[in-house]
Amino acid sequence: MDIEGFTKELQKTIKPYRQDHTRYAQLPAVGHTREEIIQEMEDLFAREEPRWREGKVSGAVYHGDENHIAFQNKIYSINSQSNPLHFDVWPSATKFEAEIVSMTAHMLGAGFTQDEIVGTVSSGGTESIMLAMKTYRDWAKDKKGITEPEMIVPTTAHAAFDKASQYFNIKMIRIPVGSDFRADVAATKAAITPNTIVIVGSAPPFPHGIIDPIEELSELAMSHGIGFHTDACLGGFLLPWAEKLGYPVPPFDFRLPGVTSMSADTHKYGYAAKGTSVVLYRGREMRHYQYYVTTEWPGGLYFSPTFAGSRPGALSAACWAAMLSMGEKGYLDAARGILETAVKIKQGIRNIPELKVLGDPLFVIAIASDELDIYAISDVMTQKGWSLNGLQQPPAIHIALTQRHTQPGLAEKFLQDLAEAAGYVRAHPDMQGSMTPIYGMSGNVAFKGAVQEFIKGMIDMMFDV
Ligand SMILES: Cc1ncc(COP(=O)(O)O)c(C=O)c1O
Repeated sequence: MDIEGFTKELQKTIKPYRQDHTRYAQLPAVGHTREEIIQEMEDLFAREEPRWREGKVSGAVYHGDENHIAFQNKIYSINSQSNPLHFDVWPSATKFEAEIVSMTAHMLGAGFTQDEIVGTVSSGGTESIMLAMKTYRDWAKDKKGITEPEMIVPTTAHAAFDKASQYFNIKMIRIPVGSDFRADVAATKAAITPNTIVIVGSAPPFPHGIIDPIEELSELAMSHGIGFHTDACLGGFLLPWAEKLGYPVPPFDFRLPGVTSMSADTHKYGYAAKGTSVVLYRGREMRHYQYYVTTEWPGGLYFSPTFAGSRPGALSAACWAAMLSMGEKGYLDAARGILETAVKIKQGIRNIPELKVLGDPLFVIAIASDELDIYAISDVMTQKGWSLNGLQQPPAIHIALTQRHTQPGLAEKFLQDLAEAAGYVRAHPDMQGSMTPIYGMSGNVAFKGAVQEFIKGMIDMMFDV
């Protein structure tokens, strides 16, 4: 498919309701009835629900059980007016947030160190990561006088670190991963300069799900007096339970003395509604560099712990409620189901000729092929109703397993569809994946700019009514 054809297909995916739903470019002259709006909403919901409900989507909906969703919705509706910015009006929100942070910290090793592990609630993994990077920038400037800060980040770490580098003017030093997809410790050591403020490792990174050598990296950071951030956005609420279940989980949390901050997403395997995450620090002093405080503003003394001003207290309430309702046993049982499904799926993929699992991951499974166009396989999977993530360098796709995938028969269905997709592409050697040319271009320095422009055009498309 050429770029023009691809753009047309993309438009259909991004704006599927143009044909049969009214577009509102301006306010309606008179408001619609609530019943009408609810009806329209339910119609849209019904069209989108089956794919994620049935477990056809990688990641995205991590719990998704009907009763759990109804419970989250009920908690949200009780708290929909709450805003922790007004702590005097809604001290309940402040209580929820303090307890979310403390429960998360204790799950991630707070009880095993003399240091106090503290943090804040944020809106998601990206915000937690960006807050931590801003914190290191301000800490290093204040404590060490570093004005041209650098961060050392494995290539597999989440794009949010690059975003932080761009937003906060921190020079990004990317270090490679080895053939096992883990961050290269020697390359990290070689990249340290007097301007290094933080080293990053992920538990696990998004692309291949293979946990970085956090112990070695954090020791390296500690020996140089540098911060170390473990990005456990994806694994924070799963790895502690995987470890208890006896899976091979290398140390990654505050039990390691060199880990000075962490991010862990409650809205992923914490099973809270979308819109919350936790960022944690070793010690209150570090956390102070995250806060915003002004004493000069005519609007009064003002402060906020994170980037936002007003915040959705209802999401913190729902997060707190999710954690309380799951409890340790709930998280352990959920992890067991996901990890057992992963074992089944990894084994099944290894039985499909031409396909391979990259490394030996626990619950995010990246699939590649030396012979077939993996993006073409992904297209066939899309036709079969699946929504998988495309990866690059090397070309691959992945599925992040959630509770949705533990439904009876789902793993078998995935493997059957994947085997059929591989068979189809094998039988059609000329078939090219729709993403193949784009990924081909993005890996080529000469075309990087063109791909960036293409993506910006796609974002524009999203905001076209
Ligand atoms: C390892 C990792 N870090 C950070 C993030 C960013 O999280 P969010 O999408 O909530 O901003 C993700 C998202 O998948 C992730 O997998």
